[in-house]
Amino acid sequence: MSQRPHILLIEDDASAAAALRRVLADEGYAVACEARGDTGLLAAQQNDFEVVITDLKLPGLNGLDLVRQLHVAKPRLPIILITAHGTTETAIEATKLGAYDYLLKPFEMEELLDLVGRAVASSRLMSQPVEMGEGLFAGNAIIGNSRMMQNIYKEIGRVAAKPVTVLIRGETGTGKELIARALYQHSDRCRAPFVAVNCAAIPETLLESELFGHERGAFTGAENRRIGRFEQANGGTLFLDEIGDLSSNTQAKLLRVLQEKYVHRLGGKEAIPIDARVIAATHRDLETALREKTFREDLYYRLSVVVIKVPALHQRAEDIPDLVRYFMQRHGTEFDIASPSIQTEAIQFLQAQPWPGNVRELENVVRQALLLAGKYTISLQHVQQVVAKIGESASASNQSIATGISEYLVRASQGEMTGVHGRVIEEVERELFAQAIQMAQGNQARAARWLGVSRITMREKLHRFGLHPSGERTED
Ligand SMILES: Nc1ncnc2c1ncn2[C@@H]1O[C@H](COP(=O)(O)OP(=O)(O)OP(=O)(O)O)[C@@H](O)[C@H]1O
Ligand SMILES: [Mg+2]
Repeated sequence: MSQRPHILLIEDDASAAAALRRVLADEGYAVACEARGDTGLLAAQQNDFEVVITDLKLPGLNGLDLVRQLHVAKPRLPIILITAHGTTETAIEATKLGAYDYLLKPFEMEELLDLVGRAVASSRLMSQPVEMGEGLFAGNAIIGNSRMMQNIYKEIGRVAAKPVTVLIRGETGTGKELIARALYQHSDRCRAPFVAVNCAAIPETLLESELFGHERGAFTGAENRRIGRFEQANGGTLFLDEIGDLSSNTQAKLLRVLQEKYVHRLGGKEAIPIDARVIAATHRDLETALREKTFREDLYYRLSVVVIKVPALHQRAEDIPDLVRYFMQRHGTEFDIASPSIQTEAIQFLQAQPWPGNVRELENVVRQALLLAGKYTISLQHVQQVVAKIGESASASNQSIATGISEYLVRASQGEMTGVHGRVIEEVERELFAQAIQMAQGNQARAARWLGVSRITMREKLHRFGLHPSGERTED
């Protein structure tokens, strides 16, 4: 994702606005400011911002009315409301009215940046169209004209507009998330929010509150009420990714919500009616999970009314040439390579590979081959070299570091790159934090302990590397 996200900041206090603007700009956002509610609303309606941050107390139009009106005009635009403590109820009211989330003053800049990062990701998920079919080389496309993929496009067309629950199954990296977005974009709810939750990335203790919300005092640390993702997705679509990873407790609660179409916030009595279209995805073998009794049969049946099975890449090797060209084009732009090309033998070699990591792995190989070839045609030797290196590094991770280093040194020696030291350190560090947080199942305290760093450092690094354990990715 290359373009800088555009953010509108509506804040009447000039010094607060300047401070926020600086922090956001340092983080790489393009920030526009408005000092009044009414002009802010107008600016938000007339321009394409990815996220709006607004204060509550504003001249012209207060933040709550702004949220109400802007959400009606642009239901997919995430709005973050900043309010003072003591106005918590108002903040909660705002999320009900459609605000993406709120921040209570005083807050840490880190909190703000984390929230903005997630809101931008969410905004992009909703607004970047996923195209399907032939001859497409646009930003986000589902590539492939094999019979198997054509059946998937038909299936998407057939079920997208129906309010049914859809379960998307397929190995890792096959494109399940892309398909979920295509379903959403072709549904009659495409103007309403698409809320994504990665069930595997959130620790079990937090997941229920994330999904269903909680009342103040529902558990230790629940200082305020929280609106869950189900409630936020009301009228829209809720994407439950990695559903095969739910604990049995959460499975039971999810089943109840799906059956009754009501949600109870944790610790709450009120039954809140829910109208959210659920799309779920998993790479797990649910049949085995059923046999081993780790996945509930009733939930399985409830979810699998419509199942879209995404084929593994090796089952549709005829799609590989198109995919390769698509990724060459995409990453060619990223690396400033004007018209990347590839030898036929190289494509044939790629078609014959087993691809356990499916399309994601193919994309990675194409990207690295492109780096290796630079402005020259990608040859058979280039792709063989990359595939061999990735194969080796699967068994020895320091090997993959070595691959990265040699690649960068090659580029540096060709004058295509500088700052190799910083890049390598950064990447090794990112990998370290990514693995630690994954192994700790999102538990930051535990991961910090393993690495021997403070929790503050942990949070900073996770934020910096876009490793939000919140279920929403910051970058594509
Ligand atoms: N048919 C396709 N055409 C173009 N790009 C694709 C296709 N399928 C997958 N990709 C790309 O491959 C990567 C992985 O896709 P995605 O995240 O949708 O997979 P997934 O099935 O959700 O994987 P996981 O199970 O690991 O979450 C993304 O970068 C996506 O854009
Ligand atoms: Mg996925």
